[in-house]
Amino acid sequence: MYAKSKLSVVILILSVAALFSGLAFAKQDPELKQCSHQCRVQQQFDEEQKEKCVSKCEEYHREKKERESVKEHEFDPDRKLRECQSRCMGQGQGEARQLCRFRCQQRLEREHDGRWEEEGKKQTKEYKEEHEEEHEEQEHNPYVFEDRHFSTPIKTEKGRVDLLAKFTQNSDVLHGIENYRLAILVANPKAFVVPNHFDADAIFVVTQGRGRISMIHEDKRRSFNIETGDIIRIRAGTPLYLINRDDNEKLFIVKLLQPVNRLDQYEVFYGAAGGKPESFYETFSIEILEAALKTSRDKLERFFDRRGEGAFLEASKEQIEAMSSREEGGKGGGIWPFGSDSKNPFNLFKKRRPSKSNKYGQLFEVDADEFEHLKDFDLRVSYANITRGCMNAPFFNSRAIKIAIVVQGQGYLEMVSPGSGGRKSGSSYQKISSRLRPDTVFVVPAGHPFVTVASINSNLEILCFEVNIENNVRYLLAGEGNLVQQLEKEAKELAFKRRGAEVDRVFGNQDEEFFFPGPRQQRSRDYE
Ligand SMILES: *[C@@H]1O[C@H](CO)[C@@H](O)[C@H](O)[C@H]1NC(C)=O
Repeated sequence: MYAKSKLSVVILILSVAALFSGLAFAKQDPELKQCSHQCRVQQQFDEEQKEKCVSKCEEYHREKKERESVKEHEFDPDRKLRECQSRCMGQGQGEARQLCRFRCQQRLEREHDGRWEEEGKKQTKEYKEEHEEEHEEQEHNPYVFEDRHFSTPIKTEKGRVDLLAKFTQNSDVLHGIENYRLAILVANPKAFVVPNHFDADAIFVVTQGRGRISMIHEDKRRSFNIETGDIIRIRAGTPLYLINRDDNEKLFIVKLLQPVNRLDQYEVFYGAAGGKPESFYETFSIEILEAALKTSRDKLERFFDRRGEGAFLEASKEQIEAMSSREEGGKGGGIWPFGSDSKNPFNLFKKRRPSKSNKYGQLFEVDADEFEHLKDFDLRVSYANITRGCMNAPFFNSRAIKIAIVVQGQGYLEMVSPGSGGRKSGSSYQKISSRLRPDTVFVVPAGHPFVTVASINSNLEILCFEVNIENNVRYLLAGEGNLVQQLEKEAKELAFKRRGAEVDRVFGNQDEEFFFPGPRQQRSRDYE
C-alpha cells in the first residue's frame, strides 16, 4: 500500500516535470505542441507511456532543430552543453538527471579534446601554431605516423627511399607487427634503380606511375612492366632493379618488408654497381677479387671507380624502350618461380569487381585466394577509395592488424583504444583521432573499432596491409550486416536496456553497406 502510493507520487512528479519541460518547448513550436498533444490523448497509454511519448516528440524536435542549425553555427561548446543538458529534462529526477547532465559535460570534453585546432582558434596565428605543436607533442599517438617519423636513407636527384621508423619505436602497443617495416620508394621520370638485394621478404604495391621491374631468380631473369595497383611479391635476397618508364610522372612504390636476419631491421646490398653506391664486391680483398674474377688488379681498380650518382641513375629513352619491350616482360610469362599459376604481379584494380562499392566509396581487396604469394605473409592487401564527404562503416578486425597508408586525399581517423587515456573523462576507452593526409601511416590493432572519414574536398584513398589475416573476421558496427542485428531480441533488450524494436530502429536505420555519407558537420579546419 505504502509502496504503491510512493510510486504514484514519483509518477506524479515525473509527469509534472515532463509536462513542464514539454510546455516550455511547446510554447515555441506548433509542430512539437501538436506531437505532444497527440501523446497525451492516447487512451491506451498509461501516464508513463504518455510521458515517454512526449519526450520522443521533444527529442525529435531538438534533433530537427539541431540539424537546421548545424550550418549556421560555429562550434560553440557552451551552446552545445546547454543544449545537451536541456535534454536531461526528460530523463527523470534527481540522480538520474544529474548523471545525464554530467555525461553531457564528459561527452563535450571528449569531443573538445578531439579538435586539434579548436582551442587555438580565437588566438593569434603565432600562438595558434605554437599551440598546435605543443598539442601534438602532448597527444603523441603511437598508432599514427607522419612525415617526421620517416627517415630518408637514400636521396638523390633521381629519387629517394623513405623508411618509416620501427612500429615499436615509441611505444610497445604495436609489438604484434614489430617484424614489419614500411618504406616508400619514389623514382623520378626515367630513373633507373641499380641492382640490389635486401635481407627481407617484401610486398611492393605501385601506388602511382608506370615502371618496369626485373628480378633474378637462380639463373633466370624475370622482367615485367608495372603500373598503379600492381602488387609484387619479392622473396628475400632476390636481386632486382627497376626503372620508371614514364617521361613525366613519378613512380611511387609502397613496400612492406619482413626482415629475415633481424627482427625489425634490414639491409640493402648493392653488388652490380660501380663505385657509388659502393659495390660490396670491393669489400673483398683485392687478391680475392683478382683470383675470383681472374682479372688483374689494375683493371679491377679502374673498373670499380668512384663515379656515379648513387642508387638512382638516369636511363636514356633508348635504354628504357629497349628494356620495356623485351618479350619476357609480358605479364604472366610463366617462368619459374613466377609460374603462370601464381601471377606476379597482381593488380588490385583489375579484379572482376570491388568487394564493396556504392556511391560513397569503393573497397578493393586481394587475399591469398587470388594472389597466393600473400599466403606466406598471412596478408591481405586492400585499397579503400572513400568518396569526398563520406566515411566507411565503423568496424573492427577480429585478428588482423591493419597497417594503412594514405595515398591520396585528406580526412580523419577515429579509433577506440582501451584504457582511460582521456585526460578528463572517466571513460574506460580512449578516442584516438588523427587527421589524415598523403603518406600518413596508421595502425589499427586487432579488435579496435575504427572509422575513417574523407574530407569534403577530396576522395580519401587508403592502401592497407592487413597482417594476421587467416581466420580474421571483419565485424561491422553500423549499416547493412552490422553485428547488433545478429543478436536475439532478448539479448538486444538486455544489452541496450531498450525495447527490441527500438534497438532495431537505431541499428537498422542505416541501410547502406560499408560506405556511408559522412558526418554533416565536418571538422574542415582540421585538415586544411
Ligand atoms: C577513386 O575514386 C575517384 C572518383 O570515383 C576516381 O576518380 C579515382 O580514380 C579512384 N581511385 C582509384 C585508385 O581507383
